[in-house]
Amino acid sequence: MSNKGNKAIGVAVIGCGTIGALRAFCSSENSGVGYLGVCDLIESKARAVADKCKADEWSTDYKKIIDNPEVDAVFISTGEADHFDSAVYAAQKGKAILIEKPLVLKLDEGAELLRIAKDNNVKIFTGFTQRFRRRFLTAKEQLLSGFLQSVDSAFGKIYVTQAVAESVLSRSPFTTPSINTLTYQVDLMLWYMEGKKPVSVYAKSVSNIFKKYNNAPDATWAILNFDDGTFCTLGVSWQPPKQYPAYVCTMELELFGPNGMLSIDDSHRDYILASAKPIPAAYTPDVLMNVAFLGSAMPGDWALEKYWGPMKSETDAFIESVVTGIDHPALPTGEQGYRVLEITLAIDKSAREGKEIKLPLADNL
Ligand SMILES: NC(=O)c1ccc[n+]([C@@H]2O[C@H](COP(=O)([O-])OP(=O)(O)OC[C@H]3O[C@@H](n4cnc5c(N)ncnc54)[C@H](O)[C@@H]3O)[C@@H](O)[C@H]2O)c1
Repeated sequence: MSNKGNKAIGVAVIGCGTIGALRAFCSSENSGVGYLGVCDLIESKARAVADKCKADEWSTDYKKIIDNPEVDAVFISTGEADHFDSAVYAAQKGKAILIEKPLVLKLDEGAELLRIAKDNNVKIFTGFTQRFRRRFLTAKEQLLSGFLQSVDSAFGKIYVTQAVAESVLSRSPFTTPSINTLTYQVDLMLWYMEGKKPVSVYAKSVSNIFKKYNNAPDATWAILNFDDGTFCTLGVSWQPPKQYPAYVCTMELELFGPNGMLSIDDSHRDYILASAKPIPAAYTPDVLMNVAFLGSAMPGDWALEKYWGPMKSETDAFIESVVTGIDHPALPTGEQGYRVLEITLAIDKSAREGKEIKLPLADNL
């Protein structure tokens, strides 16, 4: 696909699972990309994605792909426990990075990664993706236009099915609903309540279904407090059964200010497919159902052999940032990814210890 020259950049995708395959496809469709290299530890996955996306190179060794001088930008799309090593390597090689959420699983690793990136003058972004869902993006615009005046209290919930949770835990048994799923809501809330400093969190969890995974909670609810006395309530559940028709995710969000309120229903109950022909769930295609709320796949949807939706827009935004050298206004930074991780870790700590936890957790940055 060599069209380098027309100010095109080279892109590497590390990890060719569900998400890496989408990043590679969206990159291959972007006219700003002149070179594509893909990598997975599992050769058959790297080959399959390389074939579909007509990549210039594939490998099972991320160093080989990242080292290629054609490569300017790297997607770290490995499982959540495997982000750190390849991200650090890309930062040391001076390549721009988009790292999938959650940034990493440990705060000290996050701080070290950001430090290495800063030392090498490298831009890191975090792939929270939902900022690019049109309704969440335009909500930010309404807030900037002053329709609420300020956000003084807020509510956000996010549920995924047990099948999605099982697939996450089977690759990353030390993750939790907060770190892996609530992370999207925490990012949106910090974005919407920009300028406020989180000072403490109180949370409660229950663990039954996923106890076998290092006592992973099934559900967690938290109150996050800010320095000006405002707060938000955030909740996550991994409890909906695998047959729940929002086959990946369901979200709801409400923001209240002195001037008004803004309410977003992202439950997808407005777009229903019912069929005698079994419908495969988007993230866990082995799960078949007869009623599905379409549009509940977080990255987006396939239609007419193209990929549409927030992950396409986010991928394009990252590529545009690297091509132009101008940061995209909706793209979360690595530091924002670190702050979200800190809050989700504090939420889990509060639920474990049964007490309010002060923020920041560590003085790492
Ligand atoms: N933004 C979103 O909407 C969204 C949705 C789902 C998942 N995610 C995130 O995307 C990431 C990947 O999730 P997924 O569902 O694609 O997982 P996955 O298990 O399908 O894919 C991960 C791939 O990484 C590969 N891998 C692991 N270590 C590697 C290494 N060192 N070098 C090369 N390849 C390696 C694995 O072999 C696997 O194929 C996770 O961080 C997850 O939380 C984001």
